[in-house]
Amino acid sequence: MKEWYDAIQKAQSVESLEEIRISVFGKKGVLAQEFAKMKTAPNENKAQIAKDLNTHKSALMNEFTAKKITLQTIELQIAMKAEAIDVSLFSAKSQSGALHPVMETMDKIVEYFSSMNFSVKTGGMVEDDFHNFEALNLPKYHPARDMQDTFYFKDEMLLRTHTSPVQIRTMLSTKPPIRMIAPGAVFRRDYDLTHTPMFHQVEGLLVDEKGKVSFANLKFILEDFLKYMFGDIEVRFRPSFFPFTEPSAEVDISCVFCEGNGCRVCSKTGWLEVLGCGIVDPNVFNAVKYENVSGYAFGLGVERFAMLIHQIGDLRSLFEGDIKLLEQFQ
Ligand code: DAH
Repeated sequence: MKEWYDAIQKAQSVESLEEIRISVFGKKGVLAQEFAKMKTAPNENKAQIAKDLNTHKSALMNEFTAKKITLQTIELQIAMKAEAIDVSLFSAKSQSGALHPVMETMDKIVEYFSSMNFSVKTGGMVEDDFHNFEALNLPKYHPARDMQDTFYFKDEMLLRTHTSPVQIRTMLSTKPPIRMIAPGAVFRRDYDLTHTPMFHQVEGLLVDEKGKVSFANLKFILEDFLKYMFGDIEVRFRPSFFPFTEPSAEVDISCVFCEGNGCRVCSKTGWLEVLGCGIVDPNVFNAVKYENVSGYAFGLGVERFAMLIHQIGDLRSLFEGDIKLLEQFQ
């Protein structure tokens, strides 16, 4: 037995001590073997042998436990020394991120309409012809489809060219009244100073009983919204055309660069176009089988808002991930 006391004493690591534990106390270990031998010993010696073995057993266990604690303490100290951090050293310069100006602008838009009790819907980026065009009063071969250069998949599937299909999806899945906005990415085959193949829009739709929704309601909320976004500006509504609204208007704000005096950005007009809107066309309500309702809708481009708010010149710079640009928005 003495050699096992020595072995425990000499163990150099918790791992080798564990091997010794198995050799001594394990199922096939020394102690088990000694107890097994007892069976063949003369009866009168059995009691003494058992007593001796049990004494060894508890003595060895005490040695083992004490040694294990010692070895663990040593190993912990070694590990802590190796991983020590010198807190007096200078740290590497860290770069902290910030919300992208497009997302920040989108958040602010959502914040405004949420405060006006509009709920937020998303819809999918892959749409079908019905939701993106047909139900929005843009039947096949309608010339207005030329306004949008579309990325098509097979089987009349496409990347949505605007967030307006979320109007249709929401009306098909819920009963009026509706007050919703739909922020999200949209896609068009376009790329130049003022167009990127992917950009973001926020769509708005309000539907209530027939006669309850007027152009005046629409005018009020959009004016209030634009002042919330751009501060002290003038707002004007210009008659326009969209297939899904009738009457339709485009909305301008007084130029944020020259305060309406006329400059390069506003082409000397003093006005900047910022959104489209109108009273929901009856054909749209027919497509979703809504009866005896009235409503208004609007849609805007988030990048354009972000560029005007932060006075950014080139739309493409918003998508280049240039740290120098992004750092300015912290
Ligand atoms: N869908 C239009 C576009 O992508 C934007 C728009 C205009 C949405 C007028 C509307 C609306 O809901 O009433 O250019």
